[in-house]
Amino acid sequence: MMVEKTLCIIKPNAVVDNNIGNIILRYESEGLRIAAAKFTHLSKEKAEGFYIEHKGKPFFGSLVNFMTSGPVLLLVLEGEEAIKRNRDIMGSTNPAEAQPGTLRKMYARSLEQNAVHGSDSQVSAKREVAYFFDENEVFTRF
Ligand code: CMP
Repeated sequence: MMVEKTLCIIKPNAVVDNNIGNIILRYESEGLRIAAAKFTHLSKEKAEGFYIEHKGKPFFGSLVNFMTSGPVLLLVLEGEEAIKRNRDIMGSTNPAEAQPGTLRKMYARSLEQNAVHGSDSQVSAKREVAYFFDENEVFTRF
């Protein structure tokens, strides 16, 4: 098994709904550690750049509006197989398809307002962590 880092975003709906603590508690209780954290309000440019692979899709404009509608908590999670484990903990992108007990099942409002983001591969995790955090802001324990 490999220790990995993955980017998690606690999205504006989960912040507004007062679920930051519930989400962090879940990650920590599953053995993932917080290696970095930043509470911020994304600019339109920063959100568009983050979701660049979705540019041109019909939901892109609305997604950027939502992601800039309020503050988000950016986290770097670290642990054994953190990328897959975060995806399992989050559940399916569409909360209607997410398993009971997953974060999206519990805290999403809709497909767009799906509470949390998690990197989907080692390549995207590397890009996404570096997109928001300088190296000296990430406190790796391994
Ligand atoms: P996320 O994991 O952050 O990656 C892209 C986001 O786009 C996704 O979560 C959803 O918030 C959103 N998204 C994906 N597909 C759709 C869709 N069909 N309609 C609206 N939003 C979507």
